[in-house]
Amino acid sequence: MRKAELDSVREVGAALEKELSRAVVGYAEAKRMLLVSLLAGGHVLLEGVPGVAKTTLVKALARLLGLTEGFSASLDGVPHRGFSRVQFTPDLMPSDVLGSLVFNPATRDFEVRFGPVFTYFLLADEINRAVPRTQSALLEAMQERQVTIGGRTYPLESRSAGKFFFVAATQNPVEQEGTYPLPEAQLDRFLARIIVEYPASIEEEKSIYELHMGRLSEPLEDLEKVAEPSWVVSAQEAVATGVEVPDEVLAYVAKLVRATRPSVFPPIAEYFELGASPRAGIALIRAAKAHAALRGSAVVEEIDVRFVLFPVLNHRVIPNLEKVVEVESAQGRFAARYKVIREGLSLAERVASQ
Ligand SMILES: Nc1ncnc2c1ncn2[C@@H]1O[C@H](COP(=O)(O)OP(=O)(O)O)[C@@H](O)[C@H]1O
Ligand SMILES: [Mg+2]
Repeated sequence: MRKAELDSVREVGAALEKELSRAVVGYAEAKRMLLVSLLAGGHVLLEGVPGVAKTTLVKALARLLGLTEGFSASLDGVPHRGFSRVQFTPDLMPSDVLGSLVFNPATRDFEVRFGPVFTYFLLADEINRAVPRTQSALLEAMQERQVTIGGRTYPLESRSAGKFFFVAATQNPVEQEGTYPLPEAQLDRFLARIIVEYPASIEEEKSIYELHMGRLSEPLEDLEKVAEPSWVVSAQEAVATGVEVPDEVLAYVAKLVRATRPSVFPPIAEYFELGASPRAGIALIRAAKAHAALRGSAVVEEIDVRFVLFPVLNHRVIPNLEKVVEVESAQGRFAARYKVIREGLSLAERVASQ
């Protein structure tokens, strides 16, 4: 039973990745990490400049699960959409995301208007442009997987009903005026921060243009359903209960996480001002389990941890700013931050493997 479920994670996972590639060229790691996060029951933050297919990637994945804006399913009598997109702007209020009580003059009573958060897939575009109060409202709903409106609490997720809730937020790393960067404590609510960079090569760049040549519609509109939405819930279950983490891998993660902390491992201070928390370690293990299942293994290995290391930890450590400034002069401003974090994590990893 469990074996069959794990086999389906690998098979459907591979089919999803293959189909995603019909709409989005390249970004193999980002695609894999998006699936890892979904199957680990986490949410993701996609960071990248405009026009690098962040929205397309999320929309395509939702579509492959049959979840479009037109889809609707009822959970305890409350309608949930397949896919909602919310553009975060400075004037967006918490009630615009969650919902509110509205007065109906016909019945002379209040009724609930359910917000876009009542969905399977929520795309929170440019999350750093909303005011902190609205950001917090969404982050709280993500954490608690439920929303309270007018004194009543509504679930956003139900395993028995095959209903999941997945948030993909996007943000532009180039800090502009009028943005409200998410505080570190809130970034922690995202299982992974996936960095979407420019296409890797001339070939990739050309393939993107070719994909769009000779058509008016977006290629993702050609994608057809690969699995049912309820597949996600059973795959999450299979990952959580059916993938084993051997003692030596657990020890490796513990060593690795500890090696990111200057107080434990002083040489890391060159790269990190603040290292990863135990919560980051838990996230690392959860993500590594989903990665193991996607490559068809019921046992986590070090390679799984290594694959998820950067996306799971990059927003949970604070790089040493002096080092960032030093790298910046050579590499440009926002590449520097990621580079210092990468180098620091690879040092921590070397220490943990010894
Ligand atoms: N790697 C890629 N593969 C396929 N299409 C791409 C790629 N990068 C950009 N595009 C196309 O460029 C446009 C912008 O993509 P979009 O998803 O809106 O970007 P973002 O959300 O990052 O601003 C879309 O038409 C998308 O299909
Ligand atoms: Mg977009």
